[in-house]
Amino acid sequence: MMKYILAPSLLAADFTKLGEQIKETEEAGAEYLHIDVMDGLFVPSISFGMPLIESIRPASKQFFDVHLMIVEPERYIDEFVRCGADSITFHLEATKDPQAVIDKIHACGVQAGISIKPGTPLEEVYPYVDQVEMVLIMSVEPGFGGQAFIPESYDRIRQLRNYIEENGLVTAIEVDGGVGKKNIREVIEAGANIFVAGSGVFRKNTITDNVNKFLEAF
Ligand code: DX5
Ligand code: ZN
Repeated sequence: MMKYILAPSLLAADFTKLGEQIKETEEAGAEYLHIDVMDGLFVPSISFGMPLIESIRPASKQFFDVHLMIVEPERYIDEFVRCGADSITFHLEATKDPQAVIDKIHACGVQAGISIKPGTPLEEVYPYVDQVEMVLIMSVEPGFGGQAFIPESYDRIRQLRNYIEENGLVTAIEVDGGVGKKNIREVIEAGANIFVAGSGVFRKNTITDNVNKFLEAF
């Protein structure tokens, strides 16, 4: 039986109620908290960074899944680990030496993830799949929450799941962008096992109801 994990994306939270909202996702059963760091260079937008992560760390026992959308991620690995990251995911497109970034993340004692944008050929991530704990397939262009899921992502997830199985690996597949109640079943069936959801968790109904809907689909 595959283990399925929900990773609410903080980007969609109401920052005036940040602590309460994080607690609510945790109590409702979301095991991860997905934390999107944007630098205005790798992606057009700027989100938040170390001070925020450090400040919320004591408020949650969730696994802090830090998604770095920044150029040259190698510059900041130590800092994000110091602030409380349990896993650091960086973009293949953002560094000249992905292997060195993976090694640095592991040397800091946390899990490593590697991510690819929707337009990056899936094969480019293959050399690293056995080196990381998780591959993050972006199902929207990184940079903003609330975008529509790109349907081609289903095939990419399926192909990556086949590759992982054919090679006897245990790497997790995380999907990020446009995942909600309407498509969660299909994303599960395609072969993902960690699901990022921003708007799907923090918008419309209560956070608890939203989280429950995801967990019921697992
Ligand atoms: C986009 C971020 C996502 C985003 C997802 O660049 O990586 O994590 O918050 O938001 P939704 O679930 O609203 O598409
Ligand atoms: Zn993300």
